[in-house]
Order: sequence, then structure tokens, then C-alpha cells
Amino acid sequence: MKKNKQKINNLINKKYKYQLLENGFSKEDILIGKKVLNSRQITMASFTRKFETAFAKKIGAKYALMVNSGSSANLLATFAAGNLMRKNSLKRGDEVLVPALCWSTSIWPLVQFGLKLKFIDIDLETLNIKIDELKKNISKKTKAIMLINVLGISANLFDISKLAKKNNLTIIEDNCESLGSRLKNKYLGTFGDFASFSFFYSHQITSGEGGMVVCKTKEDYDILFALRSHGWLGGTRFYKRNLRLYKSYAKKNPQLDPRYIFINSGFNLRPTDIQGAIAHNQFKRLNSLMRERNQNRNIIIKTLISSKKWNNQFKFINIPPNFKPSWMGFPILLSKRFRNKKKRFVNYLDSKGIETRPIISGNFLNQPAAKLYKLNKEKRKYPNTQAVQELGFLIGLHTKKIDKNKLKLIHDAFFKIDSI
Ligand SMILES: Cc1ncc(COP(=O)(O)O)c(C=O)c1O
Repeated sequence: MKKNKQKINNLINKKYKYQLLENGFSKEDILIGKKVLNSRQITMASFTRKFETAFAKKIGAKYALMVNSGSSANLLATFAAGNLMRKNSLKRGDEVLVPALCWSTSIWPLVQFGLKLKFIDIDLETLNIKIDELKKNISKKTKAIMLINVLGISANLFDISKLAKKNNLTIIEDNCESLGSRLKNKYLGTFGDFASFSFFYSHQITSGEGGMVVCKTKEDYDILFALRSHGWLGGTRFYKRNLRLYKSYAKKNPQLDPRYIFINSGFNLRPTDIQGAIAHNQFKRLNSLMRERNQNRNIIIKTLISSKKWNNQFKFINIPPNFKPSWMGFPILLSKRFRNKKKRFVNYLDSKGIETRPIISGNFLNQPAAKLYKLNKEKRKYPNTQAVQELGFLIGLHTKKIDKNKLKLIHDAFFKIDSI
């Protein structure tokens, strides 16, 4: 047994001394996952429903539905926002504004639905959409904004909400990287009409794969509920809330088998109950996970800026006023004078056992997929997003206090920037 555990740890820790995430599962997470497995009720059921209820309650969302990934949450949110059952629905050909610093599956659902994307540059202080640019680009054609709350920080979502209200725009908040962050005590993910969350490995909480979509109205919830599961009202026995809807459709369609009534178009984006149980168990520890990550970030920053070698080589993201961040990683920008060294530096960190990754996907418009789909026909420039690609990277923030050896490793490797 012990040997086995060692083997697993070796596999996980094979390459890096400082990883994006150290084994993110507690003993209890694994036990509860096993409990679901042993029960043989593996498909989505009461563990998932309980998690959804707890999730909505804590973050102050009206409704929450768990799905099998953050990407699925974005897909569901987008197709619900444009669903025929929705009063103020998006239409194919409508314009949606999106920050150029985004993840692939923040935007592909928009393309797949048939919206026209207009990319907006970001603010280098927050890494989030630049509000002035956003304002300038709203026109009669604009019907929605896809926001991406980057790595625990957002733009001023009160200002953006006002702007959206004034212009009758639907907001989808991709909050996959910012579970637990608050602006003036309001949780990110509760500003938009819809919001998505990801529980992929290395996010604030993880069930391996998993996600959540939240919304504000029962009308939207019913659409999401059906779309998540084949356009069907199946599984309602775990969802008393939807039993009435189920009964009313059954009554109006006596010729159909009431167990198999399809009311809308659909996907299958359901999680397993194993994911529901593990994510819920992690979610109960969200506050302490957030606290540990925040403390570790403060310790790393303090170690770097109080070093004799500190000469503003790095820039950290400032926390906006009235903001309580929940980090999933630690984004860092190199000083502009090191623009040509970024690749060499990141390779150097890798060789020293420090795992890094880009900030989201850099300037998404540089990606081959964006070119394939001609997402930037006008060849517009996004200088700040481009700067994030050229200067930015992130390292992990762990949920156990960082030890001296790891701090030294980071300190020594980081200051090599001056000589490599
Ligand atoms: C901003 C953003 N949106 C969406 C996703 C997709 O989430 P998932 O990996 O759970 O599909 C990610 C993934 O990291 C992300 O960073």
C-alpha cells in the first residue's frame, strides 16, 4: 500500500520541484469519491444536487447547475443565452465583445452559436478587459459581452454591469479562474446573466474535471437544466424544483411517455456524482484554501522584493480597490527590458524544476485556431494583450505554507533573469 502511494507521488512529482499544484486532493476527497463509486450510483444524482445548492447559497447566485467542465459551462451559458425559449435571447449574427486575453473555450461556444466576435484589449494593471475600450466599441450591433475574470481578478464589474444595463447587453462571466473572489463583498460570477466556473486540476477547487454554470432567473435555469441533459426533463427525481415543470409537460402531452419528454435542443454535459461529491467536499474548504494561497503569494512577493537582488525585474498584479482575490496561480510580468529573454527565462525555470504556464493563452488572436476561423479579419492590434504574451507567465500557489527550500529555489532561479 505504502509502496503504491510512493509510486503515485513519484508519478505526480516526476519533473517539478515547484509545481502548478501539489497533489490537490485530500484523503477525505478521495474517500468520498470512493463512497460514490461503491454505491454504484455514479451518474449525476444527489451529491451533485447538494453541491449545486451549497454553491449557489455561498456565492449568492440564484441558481447553479454542475457540468462536466468549465468549457461545458461556457457552452451551456452561451446556448442558453441564445435559446428560443428565452425572451431576450441572442440571435445568430449578433455582435459580442470579448477580451483578447481569453481561453479557447471562452470563445468557441460564441463562434459555434453564430455570434460575431469583436475583441477588446485588456488593462495591464488588472489583465482584464479595458473598460474605456469596451465602451468605445459598443454599437447598435452589440448584444452581449463575454467577460473573463483573469486568475482571481476582475475589471470593475459594477461599472460594466451599468454599461450593460444601459445598452441592454447580456453578460456572460467566464469565472473559471476566479471562484471565491469578491468585489465589494459581491462574489465574481454573480454579476452576469450567466457565469461559468471550472474545477479542473489546479483551479481554486478541483474534482479533476468539472464545472458550474450559474444564472439569475428560473426561466434561464429551466433552459440550462434541459440543455445540460439532451433537452430532456430526465433526472428530475433529484430535482424537486423541476418536478412541476415535468408534470405540466406530461399533462400537455398525454400521447408521450412522461419519462421521455424532450422540451428543447440539448447536449449531454452532466458530471458524474463522483465529481459532484469531490468538488463539494473541496468547496467546504474554499475559505482555507484561499487563505493559504494568499499567504503564500504574499510570502513569495516579500521574499523577492526584499532581496538585495531586487531591481524591479518583475511586476505583480495589483489588487484593485475593494477587492478580495481568490488566487489559483500567481501571474507575473517581466519588466519590459527583458522582453527578449522571456522564452529563455521560462526554459531556465523549467530546468530548475519550477513549472510555469502562459497567462491564459496569451493573445488568443495569435493562435492558429484564431487564424483558421479568421477571428481578426481587420488585423486589429491589441498591444496590452500582446505585452502579456511577451512578458507574462504564471507559477503555482499551493495550499500548504511554502517551505524555505522552495522559497530559495524561486528566489535564486528568478534573479538569474539578470544574467541568463
Ligand atoms: C478562463 C477559462 N475559461 C474556461 C476554461 C475551461 O475550463 P475547463 O478546463 O474546466 O474546461 C479555462 C480553463 O482553464 C479557463 O482558464
